[in-house]
Amino acid sequence: MEERRLETTIGQLRLRSPLLTASGTAGSADELAGFTNAAATMATLGAFVTKGVTRAPRQGNPEPRIIETRAGILNSIGLQNKGADRFLSEDLPKLRQALMIPTRRGEPPRPTIAPGRAQSAIPIIVNISANTVEEYGALAGKLLASDAGQIAGLEINVSCPNIKHGGVSFGIDPCAIEKIVAGVKAAVPSGRTVTIITKLTPNITDITVPAKAAIAAGTDALSMINTLRGVAIDIRAKKPCFANIAAGLSGPAVKPVGLCMVWDCFAKIPECRSQKVPIIGIGGISTWQDAVEYLLAGATAVQVGTAWFIYPDVFVEMKQGLLKYLARNDTTVRKLTGQAHG
Ligand SMILES: Cc1cc2nc3c(=O)[nH]c(=O)nc-3n(C[C@H](O)[C@H](O)[C@H](O)COP(=O)(O)O)c2cc1C
Repeated sequence: MEERRLETTIGQLRLRSPLLTASGTAGSADELAGFTNAAATMATLGAFVTKGVTRAPRQGNPEPRIIETRAGILNSIGLQNKGADRFLSEDLPKLRQALMIPTRRGEPPRPTIAPGRAQSAIPIIVNISANTVEEYGALAGKLLASDAGQIAGLEINVSCPNIKHGGVSFGIDPCAIEKIVAGVKAAVPSGRTVTIITKLTPNITDITVPAKAAIAAGTDALSMINTLRGVAIDIRAKKPCFANIAAGLSGPAVKPVGLCMVWDCFAKIPECRSQKVPIIGIGGISTWQDAVEYLLAGATAVQVGTAWFIYPDVFVEMKQGLLKYLARNDTTVRKLTGQAHG
């Protein structure tokens, strides 16, 4: 029973845990090799969200790409990635292998994917980005045509602050969001069940405007927030630190902003409140208490990014803390969602 308290649902995805990786902070496969406790972390996850994938490879932005702030980091990665072809041929098979659940002490890890089964027990959600409205649908179609059924969800990034074309400019334009989401939905091959999540930017006054646009176009879920625009200045050179000047702020400093945006969508959008269109809360989550706050504000699941760079055990500790909290309160993740709204 105890583990079942963690179960939650995002679109067609039944997740055994509300804990997900945040795109860009856990890589897509190769990067996991550098984490000493990657297997223990994977065992805590409800789903794995990949680094952003684009149609063609991207070199990313010039260095520096990450600068620490007092309560988080600024990043200007610029969506560096291998492109869709190499993601499909190199990363996806490795990722499938990496999603192993350790069994009892001493026994070798057991693959979460039974031979012949279509999808991993830890669902893979691929984060996608594009330069034009039309390219999102084309990219989704390309990925879903050659993934051998491995992709359980697509997270549409209409909110990256670190690229010159698209990114945040799509995220604040409800018409563009409607077209992008509709294009991605249309690209899902008939007979396939793929959960479509739209990832929103906090760099906007009223996040319910793009949220409603995504819902009107049929998104299955919303995720929020991506990073906030921020600047760092090199006082010796007397110039901005980043080549693109503005970068993306994440980590503990953004938690109240993310919570506020989850709260607003849950409070003001009937589809969110009824959980027909669930919200995945992101932004500054570093402890199980942070995750509980997001659930109470209206999130159905949460993603953790920057904190994993700092605390390698963060997912393991969060899962343990959540289980204890749920047992102490004799409740479940499903019951907690939105409870702070009364
Ligand atoms: C180094 C880095 C790379 C990121 N890359 C992506 C990305 O490729 N796609 C995306 O949608 N979000 C990306 N993000 C944003 C995160 O997924 C997340 O929305 C944000 O960092 C807030 O969560 P956090 O405070 O837990 O890190 C990136 C964040 C960081 C720090």
